[in-house]
Amino acid sequence: METKRPGDTASKKITRRDALKLAGAGGIGLLLGVSGASGLNRLVHNSTAAEIQTAASPADGVIPFYGKHQSGIITPMQDFICMGAFDLTSASLEDVRKLFQSWTSAAARLCQGRGVDEEIPNPHLPPADTGESAGLAPMKTTITFGLGASFFDERYGLASKRPEALIELPRFNSDEIRKEWSGGDVVVQVCANDPQVAFHALRNLARIARGKAVLRWLQDGFQRTGAADPSGSTPRNLMGFKDGTGNPNVSAPEAADEIVWAQSADGPAWMAGGSYMIMRRIRMRIEVWDRSSLDEQEVTFGRQRHSGAPIGKAGEFEELDLNRTDGKGNPVIAANSHVALAHLDGKVKILRRGYSYSSGMDMKTGQLDAGLLFICFNRDPRKQFVPMQQKLAAADRLNEYITHVGSGLYACLPGAREGGYIGDTLF
Ligand code: HEM
Repeated sequence: METKRPGDTASKKITRRDALKLAGAGGIGLLLGVSGASGLNRLVHNSTAAEIQTAASPADGVIPFYGKHQSGIITPMQDFICMGAFDLTSASLEDVRKLFQSWTSAAARLCQGRGVDEEIPNPHLPPADTGESAGLAPMKTTITFGLGASFFDERYGLASKRPEALIELPRFNSDEIRKEWSGGDVVVQVCANDPQVAFHALRNLARIARGKAVLRWLQDGFQRTGAADPSGSTPRNLMGFKDGTGNPNVSAPEAADEIVWAQSADGPAWMAGGSYMIMRRIRMRIEVWDRSSLDEQEVTFGRQRHSGAPIGKAGEFEELDLNRTDGKGNPVIAANSHVALAHLDGKVKILRRGYSYSSGMDMKTGQLDAGLLFICFNRDPRKQFVPMQQKLAAADRLNEYITHVGSGLYACLPGAREGGYIGDTLF
């Protein structure tokens, strides 16, 4: 997609570094016909604005921000995520509306690889954009906004608009959910093929929110990059298994409507075309996992580690046959394996879109604080995620190696049309 920006003139392609080099060579006045210190000052500061708007190669990809649905839901996964939840601090609905308007225009620019502001920075003020993505390509950035149940409390008079599907998630067996990794009035998921680009977007949205909302939690995550695996095969999680094989194919609109998008008949009209996101920060007991045998690991998932194929089959994408038994009448894929329980009768589906995370180590135990930032989208969590997780929480063999420590359910609004803003169907 064409990513040329307004103002991408030859002179604007001069970067800050070029400007400084030229200044050293005494060439600035000559180049732009400016003179003296004010000319240099203007050029350096102008070049900051130009850097922010530097054109990226079309190959580095822009995913349109505006559209019927928000991007970052059925969009093929990028390599990195930076995700945060905010608590609103302003009691005024008008402030919240304005925040969503500002967030929308900033997000649309960020997805194009631009800074949050077109203006030339005033040298006497902090620049509107923090600058660390200046000159970087858009890197397929997507920014996805969702509302938590707490958004609909008494503060803004929107309680009657809360969708029934936006429930408080029940406590699942063996949950060790911590408040500091959970909830939030608004969630913002930024995905991009570059970690700095992703961080920059979330950081600048947090800056725009100053005085209206504060960050409650932030988690970044990763998977193998496209550069490390140009074939695009299924990525592996930190337990070494291919993760995503059994995900439904939602490229057909009927499948996406069935599994992902809230329909107008499902609930409030303002959510039609949106989707419900579940986030679970799932810590892996990696050290314990690493000491278990390959056999035990494969029985735990019900799939083979190397190929990703179901146990008893050869190819990754061969069908799961949960009725197959061995010579002694035992199921080939253990009934308490992760895939057997998550698959069940194959009728309830969710779209998983999670990333690995590694957040240093637990200083108390010396163990790694790493795992899965589980994210999934579904049309109605009461019918999809909740029953599935109830079955997994009760019996999944994987539970020996994982602990759910963070949790959130968010109503991801429908997309915004150009000229509109995220949330305009609700406010
Ligand atoms: C750290 C936690 C988890 C890990 C490491 C994990 C890993 C995996 C792996 C390796 C597979 C097999 C390959 C694939 O189809 O993607 C799988 C399948 C699946 N997982 Fe998980 N998973 C975790 C948590 C969850 C949770 C919380 C849910 C939903 C409540 C879930 C739902 C599913 C589903 C629906 C499948 C596909 C089953 C099918 O083939 O029909 N997983 N998971």
